[in-house]
Amino acid sequence: MTAIAITGIGELTTNDSEVGDGSPLGLLREAAVVVEGGRISWVGAQAGVPPADRVIDLAGRAVVPGFVDSHAHLVFAGDRAAEFAARMAGTPYDGGGIGTTVAATRAADDVTLRALLADRVAEMRAQGTTTVEIKSGYGLTVAEEVRALSLASEVTSETTFLGAHVVPAGSTREEYVRLVAGEMLTAAAPFARWIDVFCEPASTHAFDGDEARTILLAGRDRGLGLRVHGNQLAPGPGVALAVELGAASVDHCTYLSTADIDALAGGNTVATLLPGVEFATRSPYPDARKLLDAGVRIALATDCNPGTCYSSSMPLMIALAVREMYLSPGEALYAATAGGAEALRRGDIGVLAVGKAADLTVLEAPSYLHLAYRPGVPIARTLELA
Ligand code: NIG
Ligand code: FE
Repeated sequence: MTAIAITGIGELTTNDSEVGDGSPLGLLREAAVVVEGGRISWVGAQAGVPPADRVIDLAGRAVVPGFVDSHAHLVFAGDRAAEFAARMAGTPYDGGGIGTTVAATRAADDVTLRALLADRVAEMRAQGTTTVEIKSGYGLTVAEEVRALSLASEVTSETTFLGAHVVPAGSTREEYVRLVAGEMLTAAAPFARWIDVFCEPASTHAFDGDEARTILLAGRDRGLGLRVHGNQLAPGPGVALAVELGAASVDHCTYLSTADIDALAGGNTVATLLPGVEFATRSPYPDARKLLDAGVRIALATDCNPGTCYSSSMPLMIALAVREMYLSPGEALYAATAGGAEALRRGDIGVLAVGKAADLTVLEAPSYLHLAYRPGVPIARTLELA
């Protein structure tokens, strides 16, 4: 097997607290990493690097674990720039625009949709993301949801069935919940690892607690892992339901009660924060400090989608989390890497240690601090080893 030594790493963030400075980031200076067969076979001080077949010298640049974007909606056609502009002028987001994207997506043929998806994944990789979760949810018929998941499964193993995004025009709520939990789930399950529901208080475009429970339990019976879009539009039942059902993650968490925070702290569900959504919907940012102080595990993700955040940039999410949610740059980086891995229940990514995936992101900078310090500057890229 070919051994590739990556040397000259000025600052290496491992996320392995057993090494380096003993912090959760496990920082090493003047470091090297050896990769064999796509896995890390050695990590340590540059001075001790073993011989390798090939050497890549990074000349003092910083390296961090590849970003784990654990929440994205990349299978869609069209955009909603006009809706965004209206929002910036004061129109609130309510999920009603999802129907516009459903219509555009249904109208796109497979070749077009595959190309749009490939471009978005490439855009993410170019900015340092090495793992992305991709949801369906802009099809909302059996055939269209299966098509979206089948396309998504061509580019990631982290596929999520989100038939329960909104109730499509022409269906009653009862009919549609029955379809999603029945025939649609049966058809979608072979292409999905996860099931997700957009859960908000009754009277929104989303699904209420009872509807969400029905759909999530049906998904669990089919062997899918659970994820929830919760508490985005208002305080609501999503977080409590996610924790009660042992979901891997509850995402958004914009409006949290003390009871929600206590539930998260006592449960096994990661709170995934999506600051790009607050940015692009002019909403209040979640109280991330309160979550961390309560001992809740958090992740950061983009939610890349045409409605609430059309950004694929994990560095932007890190910068927003630092500036607007009062995370330290280290806490934000950890949430965007190891946190995302926890939200996807993946033990093989998010940490740079022997045996883990060789998902390395290089920064045109001496330190990870620059991710938040230089917002909008494209300093992160994945290290392509093939
Ligand atoms: O995560 N909230 C639900 N779904 C997406 C937005 C979908 C859209 O508006 O197109 C989200 O924010
Ligand atoms: Fe989302």
